[in-house]
Amino acid sequence: MNIAVFVSGNGTNLQAIIDAISRGEIKAKIALVVSDNKDAYALARAKKANIETFILSAKGFKNREDYDKEIIKELEKRSIRLVVLAGFMRLLSPYFVRRYKNKIMNIHPALLPSFKGTHGIKDAFEYGAAMSGVTVHFVDEELDHGPIILQEAVSINESDTLETLEEKIHKVEHRLYPKAVRLFVEGKLKIKGRKVIQGG
Ligand code: GRF
Repeated sequence: MNIAVFVSGNGTNLQAIIDAISRGEIKAKIALVVSDNKDAYALARAKKANIETFILSAKGFKNREDYDKEIIKELEKRSIRLVVLAGFMRLLSPYFVRRYKNKIMNIHPALLPSFKGTHGIKDAFEYGAAMSGVTVHFVDEELDHGPIILQEAVSINESDTLETLEEKIHKVEHRLYPKAVRLFVEGKLKIKGRKVIQGG
């Protein structure tokens, strides 16, 4: 199965998926890494793993749909069957979400529906929550909202700083995201309303 990973930044989740594929744990190929940011370190990770990249800045596009259509052309050329958002900082248009319905996943560094948005870790920390975590979910037309695939809690202790919490959350992300991708690739995820059932 050909998959695409969308990035904007460091790409540690991309790396975790690359590593899981090279260990033979996921029987899929990352046929394309898409970035809206030409300076994303994730692109260097892709190049090192010999993965093709497609960089498209949003500058000059008058709306999200036009931007997304350019990307869809590239995905279609490569028969992409799963889109993995890994720190991609743009919201996909409803057009894109409908085109790849139930074939887009995202990772969020908090326990949804708590602490949605771009600063999930910091928001949970500053709120004084005793618990946060990681959510992998399918993407629908609302931000950080689609059916939940995997979720794991991370405790926030008195001794934690924002930095130690970030470390703990990222560690869980790097285990959970490859697992979710593997389940999808093996055809084990069935969506029933808001629930994702893991079938054999
Ligand atoms: C992760 O914390 C992820 O949960 C969030 O963006 C971050 C991406 O990190 N959506 P990286 O680029 O994979 O290192």
